[in-house]
Amino acid sequence: MPPCTAQNCAPKKGADARRIKICIVDDQDVFAAIGEEGFERLVAASYRQVPGDEVLSQLYPKDDLAGAEQRLRDFLIFRFGGPPRYIEQRGHPRLRMRHAPFAVDSTARDHWMLLMGRAMEEAGLPDEVKQTLAAYFESSAAAMINRQ
Ligand code: HEM
Repeated sequence: MPPCTAQNCAPKKGADARRIKICIVDDQDVFAAIGEEGFERLVAASYRQVPGDEVLSQLYPKDDLAGAEQRLRDFLIFRFGGPPRYIEQRGHPRLRMRHAPFAVDSTARDHWMLLMGRAMEEAGLPDEVKQTLAAYFESSAAAMINRQ
């Protein structure tokens, strides 16, 4: 895995080093750090696990998993500083609204987070990118819960 190339990812020096112990990549620099290919590996590794997951396999469209994979990949690429293909093809994300037809409860959220966590390991992403993505997934997955 090449070193992270995000602009603000140089180790902090001097006084900063005491206050900031970990290097966090700005959201908009993630695409520069892992590229199209990194997002492809990540999302493919996550969706590969869906058919074997007893909760998520009931939610995702069995006949269009490849389409669902592409939608998440394009969304993440756009969200983290890459080309806006998702917006061009799907318009405004409105993710909470788009998830409304699917019963996302805290169990589904936990499964989604587990699969994505494993996918981040499998995709071999740099630690600082994993930290940035994990923080985003944590809060956005909580926001997607729409059932008790
Ligand atoms: C909390 C657990 C979650 C569950 C159970 C879940 C489930 C689903 C399901 C069933 C779909 C429909 C598949 C399709 O596109 O045909 C979907 C779509 C999508 N999800 Fe999630 N999701 C979750 C969290 C998230 C999070 C955290 C994000 C943001 C990173 C996200 C981003 C998307 C996107 C971009 C789409 C495609 C929307 C569209 O353009 O139609 N999801 N999700």
